[in-house]
Amino acid sequence: MLVVIKKDYEEVSSEAARIIAGAVRSNPTIVLGLATGSTPLGLYKELIALHRAGDLDFSQATSFNLDEYLGLPASHPQSFHFFMKQNFFSHVNLSSANVHIPDGTISGDYDAYCAQYEQCIKAAGGIDLQILGIGRNGHVGFNEPTSSLASRTRLKALSRETVDDNRHFFANESEMPKCAITMGIGTILDSRRVLLLASGRSKAAAVAKAIEGPITSSVSASALQMHADVTFMKRSVTNANRWRHRRHKISPRRLQR
Ligand code: GLP
Repeated sequence: MLVVIKKDYEEVSSEAARIIAGAVRSNPTIVLGLATGSTPLGLYKELIALHRAGDLDFSQATSFNLDEYLGLPASHPQSFHFFMKQNFFSHVNLSSANVHIPDGTISGDYDAYCAQYEQCIKAAGGIDLQILGIGRNGHVGFNEPTSSLASRTRLKALSRETVDDNRHFFANESEMPKCAITMGIGTILDSRRVLLLASGRSKAAAVAKAIEGPITSSVSASALQMHADVTFMKRSVTNANRWRHRRHKISPRRLQR
């Protein structure tokens, strides 16, 4: 496991973009695993800039997104389909035929749909490089605490903490889906390479548990300790502290508590 600590969010984003751009250039038919959330937004901006500058071609690449809220159509502004289109796909030349995101509108046989998603990843040759964010409770994708470390793509109920973290995106809590379709931890571990991005104090405890804690289903990201090629890229909390200290003129010791 490689742990890379960067000065700030911008450096996390540009270094992650450098890694991904290098991987795409050395393997133009790469299969990327993509994530949503505020954390990879800077990364997507950097990749778009490289593409616009003529330095990065996604025309032969394939992508699989980690997850999608159950019940949200692609046109819903809070759907991950919408997020990906707005923040990445509509700005680069990834062919829509090669883009895969779990369908939040399916009903009926969820297991069959999820098995098909897994099959599709397999048929594409497996994921070469999986991008991940991390939830405050240590989830990756929507693999909430107690997810099986061998889990595959499936329907998953969201934890209270995840609903609390995301409900402000919706007009009211009742509009927020309580379930999602997510790749499993086993699916993620099958990727050839994993790059997890983390930024912000609210993630510090989850990142520490994922890197140094025991491998446990209580912290899904801790399963990444079993992966042979995983990089955690995080923003230095110390720097953030120093910055907050200057801005708010409060003792750094107080911040550390
Ligand atoms: C959601 C997504 C995760 C993401 C997490 C953190 O739960 N399913 O893939 O990592 O949010 O999001 P953020 O980066 O906005 O903190």
